[in-house]
Amino acid sequence: MRVLVTGASGLLGRSVLAHLQQQTDIQATGTAFSRAGGHLIALDLTAPEQVQAVLDKVQPQVVIHCAAERWPDRCAQQPEDAWALNVDSTRALAEACTTRRAQLAYISTDYVFDGQNAPYRHDAPTNPVNFYGRSKLAGEQVVLESGNHWVLRLPWLFGPTGNLHESGVTALLETVANKSPAKIDDWAIRFPTSVEEVADVLRQCLTHIAAGAAYNGIYQWSGSTAATRYQLALMVGEIASLDTDHLLPDSNPAMAEPRPYNCQLDTSRLRDQGINVQEPLRTQLARTLAPFL
Ligand SMILES: NC(=O)c1ccc[n+]([C@@H]2O[C@H](COP(=O)([O-])OP(=O)(O)OC[C@H]3O[C@@H](n4cnc5c(N)ncnc54)[C@H](OP(=O)(O)O)[C@@H]3O)[C@@H](O)[C@H]2O)c1
Repeated sequence: MRVLVTGASGLLGRSVLAHLQQQTDIQATGTAFSRAGGHLIALDLTAPEQVQAVLDKVQPQVVIHCAAERWPDRCAQQPEDAWALNVDSTRALAEACTTRRAQLAYISTDYVFDGQNAPYRHDAPTNPVNFYGRSKLAGEQVVLESGNHWVLRLPWLFGPTGNLHESGVTALLETVANKSPAKIDDWAIRFPTSVEEVADVLRQCLTHIAAGAAYNGIYQWSGSTAATRYQLALMVGEIASLDTDHLLPDSNPAMAEPRPYNCQLDTSRLRDQGINVQEPLRTQLARTLAPFL
């Protein structure tokens, strides 16, 4: 199966591409924008002619669309750019896939929900509380309107990185290591999810598709451990054998952009298909942080 991964220089796309390239029955190609080069094809998704040229060259049967503007604060500061990438480019890519009989898997977010009624099934009513969530929800809608495509919603991600700040999860190591007192969000409930786990979920989906299974509509995946940012910082401290007495739980954190309270995703639609991965969060987090300890 030929697979194209957009955003393959990003946190998720890197792991997805690396994992798929290890499979003997998958030929995976990745695209990047500012970090293109080496094994990553240069692609500006806001340029439809580039999108069409890459699809014609790679001829993928499945496109895993990871590229997006995913920082809520940046989306709010530059809404037109975020909409152009998250919605308009997604529509052009989905339509170009439809005309070439390729199936698009659109990576979306738990931020399509308002966080007041967790857990959320894949068909639960959406109600994003910030611009990022609204743009990703609009991206879902244009994808599903454009053809026989599907969506995979994910929560807060972390995983292999050269830069701890690429994820708020790994950035906690610096907060813990820095001995000055720090207030940390102890309000919002999150489900930190390993990109390596997501990569394997996607591999299993592709195996099903290759065997003839029909994927359509919305799917969800999530790590299974609930934690506030503060609770996660305690876990990071324990993994790194660092003192956490300087960390102060903040039950009323200030937010530049509104954030949902708890968007726990119900993963039963994928689990019912036999998709499963069983690795504790602590094991995944310890492996991710090991190069920095
Ligand atoms: N990170 C999270 O916690 C999280 C949580 C839930 C859902 N998601 C979703 O998961 C997906 C992947 O997120 P991520 O964390 O991997 O994002 P990321 O690390 O910020 O990576 C974004 C990717 O998009 C590419 N890109 C940016 N502008 C582009 C353009 N004009 N044309 C083509 N590519 C462009 C970037 O390429 P260059 O770097 O080469 O410029 C990069 O590869 C996104 O759809 C996001 O909404 C993320």
